[in-house]
Amino acid sequence: MTDPIKNRKDEHIYISMEKDIESTTSTWLECVKLIHKALPEINLSDIDISTFFLGKKLHAPIMISAMTGGTALGKKINRNLALAAQENNIAMMVGSQRVALEHPETIDTFSVTRKNAPDIILIANIGAPQISRLRNLRKLDALVSMIEADALAIHLNPLQEAVQPEGETDYAGVLEKITELKEYLKIPIVVKETGAGISKEITRLLIKAGVDIIDVSGVGGTSWAAVEYYRAKSRGNNLRENIGKVFWNWGIPTAASIIEVRSEGRDQIRIVGSGGIRTGLDIAKAIVIGADLGGLAKPFLKPAVRGKEFVNELIRQIINEIKVSMFLTGSKTLDELRQADFIIFPPLKTWLESRNIKFPWWFY
Ligand SMILES: Cc1cc2nc3c(=O)[nH]c(=O)nc-3n(C[C@H](O)[C@H](O)[C@H](O)COP(=O)(O)O)c2cc1C
Repeated sequence: MTDPIKNRKDEHIYISMEKDIESTTSTWLECVKLIHKALPEINLSDIDISTFFLGKKLHAPIMISAMTGGTALGKKINRNLALAAQENNIAMMVGSQRVALEHPETIDTFSVTRKNAPDIILIANIGAPQISRLRNLRKLDALVSMIEADALAIHLNPLQEAVQPEGETDYAGVLEKITELKEYLKIPIVVKETGAGISKEITRLLIKAGVDIIDVSGVGGTSWAAVEYYRAKSRGNNLRENIGKVFWNWGIPTAASIIEVRSEGRDQIRIVGSGGIRTGLDIAKAIVIGADLGGLAKPFLKPAVRGKEFVNELIRQIINEIKVSMFLTGSKTLDELRQADFIIFPPLKTWLESRNIKFPWWFY
């Protein structure tokens, strides 16, 4: 395997599994305290965590976030993730399909998802730098059709590109392309970050461009500055290595980003809360502060390499933790969970005050 994109994809997976690539600052979800209800007045076994998303009913508000494709290892991971997503009826997004545009022989490493998960919400994925260079949007039809996607995600990764030794840092014209794409495509558009979060100002621009869903992917989990730091280091590229170290924790913490996006998006946008989501309690808190689903990437990686059963086990664990969070707040459904009582502590509280975000906005 000599192709640089394919090599990079496997390198990202190995680094993510073997090195410490988590940001050393948190999601700030610990600043959200749900108020314990000693008299829940419901039966834990009656709790219903199903939800509608992109026109389909999900068994649980969980998305397997974008990770991979393009190589034999990527195909194995995608297959196991898809099988488990189908069994549990949760959503999944594939990794960047750029490689399949340039190397059609890799298409099956992505299409393996739909083959094994005929009924799930499955989302296609391509990077912003790639779409900004596209002269003909028709090329993107292939990405959608190869997995019969329910939506197309454009990922924003300026931090990663700035640290990556061979990074593509031309982000000029991306917003205009997203607007064009919205007019061209017949399916909904997701815009996602990759670990540095999305602000209310960017949300306003994305809503104007017609974006349907924002996946915040804030700081607190996988740090792409960290992943690229290790790649730069292994190549003896001191400049990039140092940039990776300096910007390791750059971005908007996930909890702040969810509230930023919801404060601007209100009813106009669906939100995936992601970036450092590690438990069902994290997902419950993300929903209370404005997310529709919770997304996880890195926690699924090792289980997916080991086998479908290990992915199933993690999903079951997360589902149970969401249910216990709902039991302890007396919430029988996700709509009731959204009404649960909570308190917000600094530094999240300070952030919201400084950003002039009135939250919870339904009190104002
Ligand atoms: C190994 C790996 C590969 C990834 N590849 C992609 C990708 O191709 N496209 C994308 O949009 N995000 C990609 N991501 C980013 C994730 O979708 C997610 O936004 C980010 O990792 C934060 O979530 P986490 O803290 O749960 O890992 C990748 C993450 C990992 C760990």
